[in-house]
Amino acid sequence: DIPLVIAIDGPAASGKGTLAKRLAAHYGLPHLDTGLLYRAVALTVLDAGYSIDDHAAAARAAATLIADRLADPRLRDRAMGEAASRVSSVPAVRAALLAWQQRFAGNATGAVLDGRDIGTVVCPHARVKLFITAAPEERARRRHLELQRRGESTSLGAILDDIVARDARDAQRSTAPLKAAADAVLLDTTELDADAAFAAARAVVDGAR
Ligand code: C5P
Repeated sequence: DIPLVIAIDGPAASGKGTLAKRLAAHYGLPHLDTGLLYRAVALTVLDAGYSIDDHAAAARAAATLIADRLADPRLRDRAMGEAASRVSSVPAVRAALLAWQQRFAGNATGAVLDGRDIGTVVCPHARVKLFITAAPEERARRRHLELQRRGESTSLGAILDDIVARDARDAQRSTAPLKAAADAVLLDTTELDADAAFAAARAVVDGAR
């Protein structure tokens, strides 16, 4: 059998993570949330006392990243999304993490990866590419609920500002910007709940098998 690689990209809080997890469980594939890698690099830089804009420190952190780091609950903090977005524009960071991600995607049966550049750079030959979007207001509403559940209280307006700023930075950076691959299937989840988005994605995957 040819390995089933599913590449899922999209902006912050688009629902791609939830979708990726469910698709991985459904098809019996390993899942990598690649945003966690960038968050882990950012956390390593900050924990070691360096500035988040210290590119050499970020490059070292990426080159020596160990899987244990990906389990740190602080990676999900709101501030870490912003910090991750800063280190993710450093080409040496992206190059180090590219090898990591491609090793994961090379699994014999396939894999599900979600991020910003999976369909364009990490897995350009993935069998299935999905690009998940949703209106910024809806994404902010979802992220707000998620943070509330984790006990992090932040205003909806502040989250919307975060999301818009992060999208702009991710889309405008010169190395591997946030962009749909030419052969990606676009899925707008503004009006879809998690179950409906999962059903739509499954239909795409099953159609490509
Ligand atoms: O998806 P998540 O919000 O965890 O990603 C955090 C940041 O990591 C993003 O804003 C983006 O700058 C960066 N990232 C990336 N490429 C990926 C995944 C995440 O540049 N494949």
